[in-house]
Amino acid sequence: MGPTPEELPRWREAARIASRARELGVRLVVPGARRRDVADAVEAYVRGAGAAPAFPANLSRNDEAAHYTPSPDDTAVFEVGDVVKVDVGAHLDGAIADTADTVEVGGGRRHENLIRAARDGLRAGIARVRPGVPVEELSRAIAEAIRARGLKPIVDLTGHSIEPYLLHAGKSIPNVPGRGGGETLREGEVVAIEPFATNGLGSIRNGPFGNILRFRRDPGPRDPVLERLYGRFRTLPFATRWADAPDERDALRRARGLLQAYPVFVERAGGLVAQAEHTVLVGPNGAEVLTAPPGA
Ligand code: CO
Repeated sequence: MGPTPEELPRWREAARIASRARELGVRLVVPGARRRDVADAVEAYVRGAGAAPAFPANLSRNDEAAHYTPSPDDTAVFEVGDVVKVDVGAHLDGAIADTADTVEVGGGRRHENLIRAARDGLRAGIARVRPGVPVEELSRAIAEAIRARGLKPIVDLTGHSIEPYLLHAGKSIPNVPGRGGGETLREGEVVAIEPFATNGLGSIRNGPFGNILRFRRDPGPRDPVLERLYGRFRTLPFATRWADAPDERDALRRARGLLQAYPVFVERAGGLVAQAEHTVLVGPNGAEVLTAPPGA
């Protein structure tokens, strides 16, 4: 179930914060900027606004589609021509917003068609949102918009419904038709729509570790450092940057079996990937785009 009417103001506020954090990230991704500094700044903005990151700031580049966040020791910088996905989440007491956009570093226009394909897909999907509409209709509109620019939607990454404290709730919003479970949208539901466009094969494989972890369960009181970390993150995804003290690094190494480690999703043929994402509320007459740009 989506939020109750009483909870909606909190969801709108979480989304406003996520939207501003996304815009900040987009502005900071410039040639020579350190990836780690950008991720830290985006997350600091979310915390400073009174929310918490719903997941680490994802700054996946080029053929990385998703799930890359800088490591604590990352000294890499953005380079001219990099295609960077700024994917940001904020939550306020379990009210979650998830939003992304893609930047070509340095402001060139070599990858404009790719970036526009993802945004077109997002716009086309949002335009179909209405209570009772089959999810398949959104998927078809997304895929057609991306293919109209001569590019491919990534078939194995999907949008998702969002529920209190649950970023990926029960419903998937595939970016191509024929992949869903025949569901329809319901009024009052919150969904993240996130098309990915590529000039590669249109599917992903698991790449190396992306510096994002999650506790599978409560580690219990035996290890005080782990207990403290679990108290902070519970079962939400967190960045290795957030548990960077020497005793915390050691504790996480000891606790491998308790932790889920997220791999980076990499385009299968090494194609470039662009992503665009908004969190929307299924309103009585259509989508309310909760993460719309400030002032839109
Ligand atoms: Co999402």
